[in-house]
Amino acid sequence: MWGGRFSSRPADIMQAINVSIGVDRRLWAQDLAGSRAHCRMLIAQGIVGAEDGAAILSGLDTIQAEIEAGTFPFRDEFEDIHLNVEARLSELIGEASGRLHTARSRNDQVAVDFRLWVRDACDRTGEQLKALQRALLTRAEQHAGDLMPGFTHLQTAQPVTLGHHLMAYVEMYGRDAGRFADARARMNESPLGAAALAGSPFPIDRHATATDLGFDRPMGNSLDAVSDRDFALETLAAASICAGHLSRLAEEIVVWMTPMFGFVTLPDDLTTGSSIMPQKRNPDAAELVRAKTGRIMGSFVALSTVMKGLPLAYSKDMQEDKPPVFEAMDALDLALTAMTAMVAALRPNTARMAEAAGWGYSTATDLADWLVREAGLPFRQAHHVTGAAVKRAEALGVGLEQLALAELQALHPRVTEDVYKVLTPEASCASRQSFGGTAPEQVRARIADWKTRLA
Ligand code: ARG
Repeated sequence: MWGGRFSSRPADIMQAINVSIGVDRRLWAQDLAGSRAHCRMLIAQGIVGAEDGAAILSGLDTIQAEIEAGTFPFRDEFEDIHLNVEARLSELIGEASGRLHTARSRNDQVAVDFRLWVRDACDRTGEQLKALQRALLTRAEQHAGDLMPGFTHLQTAQPVTLGHHLMAYVEMYGRDAGRFADARARMNESPLGAAALAGSPFPIDRHATATDLGFDRPMGNSLDAVSDRDFALETLAAASICAGHLSRLAEEIVVWMTPMFGFVTLPDDLTTGSSIMPQKRNPDAAELVRAKTGRIMGSFVALSTVMKGLPLAYSKDMQEDKPPVFEAMDALDLALTAMTAMVAALRPNTARMAEAAGWGYSTATDLADWLVREAGLPFRQAHHVTGAAVKRAEALGVGLEQLALAELQALHPRVTEDVYKVLTPEASCASRQSFGGTAPEQVRARIADWKTRLA
């Protein structure tokens, strides 16, 4: 492509370190879309004649057919997807192919291709997040009234419902989807026409190519257009946060599946066995969802490190932008799909969870709240009295609700028989009617909200 100035071919090592076709061939559809839009604009502006323009467009169609048929010759000596397409176009249509690169550089070409790819990835991820949210909603609806222990520090805290717990993730994945949508909206400006870095002396129409490619407008600065990859970083940041959310649910599935918890099981087809221990059923998919977070967060670090300190405008460092993005988005795709399958197939042991909801003095806060409400104690004093009640119950080896009235009255004289009503996990849950609380009515109301939002 640049033979005019050179008198020797690149050394093997030059080609080896420079080649990117193995990675960026994934941009072929975006590359063809960008070339078509550019070519149509060149024709409309009278920069390329109608006949040459038509030859280029039909050559690009042939290339698409070849790629789809698996017969396109991807060649290392042509470095990347852009030069591979151009070289093939030249073989197919001859000299007219040379007019396609008028008023264009690989610098704006790759920026367009990559933006289009990342934009699609954001859209795809948004859809996958919706599917996961729908699966969670279905399960939350089934278990809106089923009790389980709520934890802080992974110590029994207060009873909640399984529906409430699952809906917490619906909220998280909703914000994740919002982050991908925000990133998409911000990235939706076209770099095409920035050319190498300074713009073009040809009478190009950047607004036309922007519209053609579904962008909202052309980017406002040609240097910025070819030299920033913040759109990819923002997407990786959204992916990292999302992966973090996925890893938390994955971790809970792992913990809940241990015999010691015994809260849930997964069907055979979503677990694996052991080659030595016949009794085993391992939550490998959940563990791998948890682990993919490393790859995804690592990708963010990798690309930010590539970009930091790069002088304007394009530097070849930026060719290292694609592997982390492809790797992260592939991992996230798998993780979201696997998580959706697990959520749909999860078999909660509701009896066990309900029983556990009452363990560990989980209604102690309800006793303290009762003392405030019914006996008029300041909360700090009520907290102290309740602490003493827990200590006494622990010494007797019983639950709070099994302490005799006389025992409670010994701790505070204003305790009455009425207190036992608040000491069950059912009552505890049912009482938490504050907006967004765990009372089944509240949970069902949030489920209804989300159903409309996801419709
Ligand atoms: N393969 C290159 C990349 O991915 C395309 C842009 C090359 N531009 C250049 N001036 N060498 O970044």
